[in-house]
Amino acid sequence: MAADIKVFLCVGIAVLLTGVGKSAFIGKSHSGGKGDPVLQYVVNNSLREHPVLTKLRLKTLEDNWARMMVAAEQAQLMANLIKLINGTKAIEIGMYTGYNALSMALAMTENGRVVACEIEESYVNIGKIFFKEAGVENKIDVRVKLALDTLKELIEAGEAGTFDFVFIDADKRNYDNYYEKSLELIRKGGIIAIDNVLWGGGVVNPAPNDITSQTLDALNKKLHKDQRIELSMLTVGDGLTIAIKR
Ligand SMILES: C[S@@+](CC[C@H](N)C(=O)[O-])C[C@H]1O[C@@H](n2cnc3c(N)ncnc32)[C@H](O)[C@@H]1O
Repeated sequence: MAADIKVFLCVGIAVLLTGVGKSAFIGKSHSGGKGDPVLQYVVNNSLREHPVLTKLRLKTLEDNWARMMVAAEQAQLMANLIKLINGTKAIEIGMYTGYNALSMALAMTENGRVVACEIEESYVNIGKIFFKEAGVENKIDVRVKLALDTLKELIEAGEAGTFDFVFIDADKRNYDNYYEKSLELIRKGGIIAIDNVLWGGGVVNPAPNDITSQTLDALNKKLHKDQRIELSMLTVGDGLTIAIKR
């Protein structure tokens, strides 16, 4: 066997054994990391999904864009954070079929309110069926328009500093705008959760033509220095940043 082939094989075996070159995070349980046994173990041994959330997840999985849906294990983490801070007011920026909006509404007491931002009415119509079935339709205030307009309206209506939790999960080019408006809207000690901050690993040395990865990388670096917040970046789903307003 030629020496260079031997070197190639040895390096290949070392990579397989050590996991070097493998993504450092697993992804979502319904896409990306679906076949990962560790993530499956996590889901099997920790997911406590409300039966209507299960129905909504299964319905959403029929859609061609189902990979956009939040991971169930991630939604549960955010619901628990809301419970931890006794949250009663939340904003969902990009609701899709409403899995996380419903999960947040279920995590809140009777007087809880979720403002859910979405531009695509057909997704909203799917979500509303399940909001009703879960008996929380009165807690979810869906606004079908550009999310940035809804956030501006909430500020103009005098609701700045009153929200407990915001989940940013819509168009990535507006993430910085969503972050700044969310900081205005949440109270001290409130939480901003930002999805897809790892963008499938694209944020590590983003390619020159990969504008989304560059945008997310710039936001990640901005938050790292931002003294207005406490910060954690989690390798949950496609990467989840937790920013707590100081
Ligand atoms: C990743 S999905 C959200 C998933 C959702 N958070 C969940 O719980 O499954 C992003 C959604 O944001 C919506 N969206 C994109 N741009 C938007 C905008 N400017 N304003 C409001 N919604 C937007 C898309 O239509 C899409 O449904």
